[in-house]
Amino acid sequence: MKIGLIGTGMLGNSVGIRLLKSGYHLTAFNRTVEKTRELKDNGAQIVCSPKEVAANSDVVITVIKDSKAVNQVSFEKNGIIDGIHNDLIVCDMSTINPLDSKNIAKKFLDNNISMLDTPVMGGPNLAITGNLVMMVAGNEKTFTKCKDLFNTIASKVFFLGENGSAHGVKLAMNLQITMLALALSEGITLSRAVNVNPKIFLEILNSTYFKTGMSENKALKMIQDKFDATFTLENLKKDINIISETSKSLSLDLPMIKKAEEVYEKAVNEGYGKLDYTGILAYLKKLNEKI
Ligand SMILES: NC(=O)c1ccc[n+]([C@@H]2O[C@H](COP(=O)([O-])OP(=O)(O)OC[C@H]3O[C@@H](n4cnc5c(N)ncnc54)[C@H](OP(=O)(O)O)[C@@H]3O)[C@@H](O)[C@H]2O)c1
Repeated sequence: MKIGLIGTGMLGNSVGIRLLKSGYHLTAFNRTVEKTRELKDNGAQIVCSPKEVAANSDVVITVIKDSKAVNQVSFEKNGIIDGIHNDLIVCDMSTINPLDSKNIAKKFLDNNISMLDTPVMGGPNLAITGNLVMMVAGNEKTFTKCKDLFNTIASKVFFLGENGSAHGVKLAMNLQITMLALALSEGITLSRAVNVNPKIFLEILNSTYFKTGMSENKALKMIQDKFDATFTLENLKKDINIISETSKSLSLDLPMIKKAEEVYEKAVNEGYGKLDYTGILAYLKKLNEKI
């Protein structure tokens, strides 16, 4: 199976490296060509358009920012559908609005291309070792054809049903990430304000039932003000906006995500967007400087 990759940002690059190290033939494209260097050095064929990626591949994986970008690389000039051939499959690993995903899948199907939603949990470090958690939706026969590929990228793969459903569950996952990052950041800020070393706060938290992977792993970096991005704050804010839009379109009232949206929006507006999403702690620090 020849694989194509569109989008070699933080996540896409690591997925590409994993595929090359597992013996797959990989053709890759990124809008900013400099970000394809590591893949090229590891044996990927780098091309100049999504069309060429599709023409050279059995399965094309898109790992790009949002629905607008997925639409552009798919349907605009020199897009994926211009490279159409028999049995081409598209897998979208970007985090996008489930309704947009349904529409994109429909447009592909109108062109006889089967598209799966394949959003993932876990960042570049887990992608490199093939330990992502993948949610899949779309045609089940297409899913079966791609199973070996998915098992190379992810240690757990869940098939969820029709297009849109995997992106819906992915949003429910990013809702957890949002709340955990905020709860930890507010807890650390409160501990500092009562003159308790946040290391002690974490030691206590991690001795209880309420510990999480985030409190056990990322939080130690957070209290040292280390916010090197594996998933940017601006990309989490993008996902919070999608959660908000999706809950509105489903007539759901999710009060906490509305509040989180305000906080993350302010953090991005004040210049914290390129930090890791846990950099919301740095924004809270700034907010409480006066106290
Ligand atoms: N990082 C993670 O831990 C993680 C985990 C799960 C899901 N995701 C999701 O995966 C996607 C990529 O995330 P990332 O962390 O890799 O982000 P990133 O490092 O910011 O990369 C974004 C990618 O999207 C491309 N892009 C943006 N707008 C585009 C457009 N209009 N046309 C073509 N390409 C465009 C960028 O190309 P340029 O280089 O040219 O800007 C880049 O390749 C996002 O949807 C994110 O929410 C990320």
